[in-house]
Amino acid sequence: MNTHVAERIERVPEDVPGAIRAVKASLRAQIGDVEAAFRQVEAFIEKEIEDIRATKERGEEVWPVIDYDQIASNGMTDTQLQQIHRRGCLVVRGHFPEQTARSWDRQLVEYVEENDFDGKYRGPGDDFFGTLAASRPEIYPIYWSRPQMEARQHERMATVQSFLNHQWKFVSQGTTWFDPDQDSMYPDRIRRRPPGTTSKGLGAHTDSGALERWLLPAYQKVFRHVFDGDFDRYDAWDAAYRTDVDEYAGGSTMCSVFRSFQGWTALSEMRNDQGVLCTVPIPEAMAYILLRALRDDVPDDELCDITPRRVLPINDKWHPLLMQGLSVIPALKPGDSVWWHCDLIHSVQPVQNQQGWGNVMYIPAAPMCEKNAHYATKVAQRFLAGESPDDFPEEHYEADWTGRFTENDLNTIGRRGLVLDR
Ligand SMILES: [Fe+2]
Repeated sequence: MNTHVAERIERVPEDVPGAIRAVKASLRAQIGDVEAAFRQVEAFIEKEIEDIRATKERGEEVWPVIDYDQIASNGMTDTQLQQIHRRGCLVVRGHFPEQTARSWDRQLVEYVEENDFDGKYRGPGDDFFGTLAASRPEIYPIYWSRPQMEARQHERMATVQSFLNHQWKFVSQGTTWFDPDQDSMYPDRIRRRPPGTTSKGLGAHTDSGALERWLLPAYQKVFRHVFDGDFDRYDAWDAAYRTDVDEYAGGSTMCSVFRSFQGWTALSEMRNDQGVLCTVPIPEAMAYILLRALRDDVPDDELCDITPRRVLPINDKWHPLLMQGLSVIPALKPGDSVWWHCDLIHSVQPVQNQQGWGNVMYIPAAPMCEKNAHYATKVAQRFLAGESPDDFPEEHYEADWTGRFTENDLNTIGRRGLVLDR
């Protein structure tokens, strides 16, 4: 399918400073009064930060927490839905039964041990996080275990992904941008962090493109109201043009699909003072980031320390207001899942001598659209061969492993997610 789609390759411009200088001149002209536009966004963010601070002071969770059963029975209250939109993130309690998640955790250990992963591991295959990774998280480049595939094609996963996709305005500008009720399979890795770990964490950043958010025409359309100086009309949940974005190839940071939400499922208990995930739970913070880089105190050929092939860094130097909003996830049980809007700033806290394990499977929501179907067809070939998916380093550890999930194990959801049933 999609044979008419030319191979999607966007390359980093050869002269990055020159490209930044040119785009800044044109965006500034388009916006008009950059300072006024920035002040308007800043005032909005200040109110959100104040609400986050007040919520913490009341001893309440900043992250919306929703029971899986409520999602499955369509029993969400308007207040809950509003909170999800406001914060751009949520925890799904009991997404999977605790015993299922604990069993998956054990099976993952058996899978890597049976296949002598420790003996074969050749070290990190990428430099995705660059200098942000003071010490590397314990990421296993494993994609095709039974637990991962069972979770990806599980009816409970499809139910939650559909719910999340429906939070977006997927019909707009006269176009249906994706199918909210059908996800494409986006295989990612697992993390297993053992007790006793000391880690400096991971600095605040956003995914899904860095330079791209200013330079690519498709992203300029996504953020058209921000770049028109009309923040009142900007809707972080409007899917228009999002699925037209193709990140720059090169390095190992690119994601070939549109993810409505990033996410992972917990396989161990996780106390929230043990080096866990934080977000700045304000989807509109992206408007702040975009305009901040256009102010006069940023050199004309720079965008607040962004470099090609790296994630977009958020820091106290350029974004002190945003950094005040960092909010940690609630404590989790095995089987709970965590989700955040694709524009959301996130970080991982440092930890010393971590108590308990920190084990997760990364599974996002990536609704079917032309772009995602295109990648899923390539994923299907990698799956059949047991190779690493194209968005990840070519490590291919599992190609000759025993106990791998096979084509015969796919259910209808799995086959559709891999575009095998057309
Ligand atoms: Fe990230």
